[in-house]
Amino acid sequence: MTQTLREELKNEVARRRTFAIISHPDAGKTTLTEKLLLFGGAIHTAGSVKARKAARHATSDWMEIEKQRGISVTSSVMQFEYAGKHVNILDTPGHQDFSEDTYRTLTAADSAVMLIDVAKGVEAQTIKLFQVCAKRGIPIFTFINKLDREGQNPFDLLEEIERVLGIRSVPMNWPIGMGRELCGVYDRMKKQVEVFDGSDHSTIEVKKVEDYNDPLIRQMAGDYLADQLVNECELLDVAGDPFDYEKVMQGQLTPVFFGSAVNNFGVQTFLENFLQLAPQPASRKSTEGEVEPTDEKFSGYIFKIQANMNPAHRDRLAFLRICSGKFERGMSVRHVRAGKEIKLSQPQQFLAQDREIVDTAYPGDIIGLFDPGIFRIGDSLSQGSSKVFDELPTFSPEIFSKVSVKNALKQKQYLKGLDQLTEEGMVQVFRSVGPFEDTYLGVVGQLQFDVFEYRMKNEYGVDIQLARTPFQFARWIVAEGSGKIDPTKFRINSTLVKDKNDNDVALFENEYAMRTAMERMPEVKFLETAP
Ligand code: G4P
Repeated sequence: MTQTLREELKNEVARRRTFAIISHPDAGKTTLTEKLLLFGGAIHTAGSVKARKAARHATSDWMEIEKQRGISVTSSVMQFEYAGKHVNILDTPGHQDFSEDTYRTLTAADSAVMLIDVAKGVEAQTIKLFQVCAKRGIPIFTFINKLDREGQNPFDLLEEIERVLGIRSVPMNWPIGMGRELCGVYDRMKKQVEVFDGSDHSTIEVKKVEDYNDPLIRQMAGDYLADQLVNECELLDVAGDPFDYEKVMQGQLTPVFFGSAVNNFGVQTFLENFLQLAPQPASRKSTEGEVEPTDEKFSGYIFKIQANMNPAHRDRLAFLRICSGKFERGMSVRHVRAGKEIKLSQPQQFLAQDREIVDTAYPGDIIGLFDPGIFRIGDSLSQGSSKVFDELPTFSPEIFSKVSVKNALKQKQYLKGLDQLTEEGMVQVFRSVGPFEDTYLGVVGQLQFDVFEYRMKNEYGVDIQLARTPFQFARWIVAEGSGKIDPTKFRINSTLVKDKNDNDVALFENEYAMRTAMERMPEVKFLETAP
């Protein structure tokens, strides 16, 4: 019996898991991703993801800058099947120089895996990425990595997660020893021990036990570690948060798993638990109300545009997150902003190592659309409707440079490039309101400046000059009631500018200047993003 479209969608949506791994560089994201792909059969040898990273340096069809810096400028997507689930991993750049793209990619995820180095704890980039996920209220799962190394006390780590990130945690397993003493982890939910064999890192055994008092653990780990495990687990039972599925789904409680990615220790159980607990694609807000993934009409939005992957052709790839309906190659959809029908003829899907032309795809999947320059970040595509997804917030920039064109004769091209690249979401632009028209660019990561400079030169033939300013914060300011904004109040360690939609924005050099301004002007609202 053939199933109806709605049944097909229901089944396909139920088995999809789309998530991003968030971490600070060096926590082990590449290693963990690789192990997950190995389990999923998407790659066959360890080292392929790293090799792919390295191979990019050798091929010419990646942005020159990517080669120069040896990093991935833009995020990509990997997919595989495991235990009946269709998994999409959204990759976010692991380098310090992340950008707004990283943030935007997170809007396409239904859940996140937060990877933490057992020795380093919660680090700067993790905090930023966590906050973006927390704002969306998506479930966050924690993997504490590098258990084979001496690290912080697990209780201190949980306390740090709660204190720094403001999310409660529930350990799903608990380490038996750490570093050189690591014997295994005790699975609190399934009541089993995953044994770590320090001499042969690849041998991992799972043993069923009664509970953490089981003599088998004592035999295996010795009295000292067994006593420690009993004491710590008793404390968790009494004082720790109980597992609460609803709270996990609301992003108020993070299930925590301990393991070691490089040793493949605890990774498979993590994957299995995660796939079981992580949510399927949820409904998304649009101008026509909530859109259920099982709605039969296809819809989605573009969260990222990867430009200039092939400098010879200057083609671009637009990344579309499917929100509802079934995607079929060659289908016609409405490009809502442009107000016209377009045909999606050469869509690509991302496997671990290659891109492939895709024939069908479902909500939660990400497809790459060949973009001859018709898409912008945030564009909605929809079958038979004009709904627009409002998924892409603007992010408050943290680094600001004054920009100018080196050769005044190139002014026209400069303005065109500035206009198009800011439309694309590459950088944010601000203009001063004083007698001298200064133009500022605002970004969240230095890399955005580098890419901007590179693309201005390569795509518009314009050399630009960037001069870093001391500003660190931008706040959109709105006077309440009949109040007016007084520019003289923004002279010390701050300045007043306009964004591209003519909204007033104050830039501040430090938090003190910002707080003082807020206190002095109670009638003015200071917003982190554009109103
Ligand atoms: P990233 O993508 O988050 O930046 O991290 P990546 O996976 O590249 O890992 C960073 C370093 O941490 C790598 O070492 C990696 O081998 C190591 N690592 C990852 N997981 C574990 C773990 O569970 N235990 C230990 N001890 N180390 C781990 P590297 O020396 O920088 O690179 P490599 O030469 O080993 O590849």
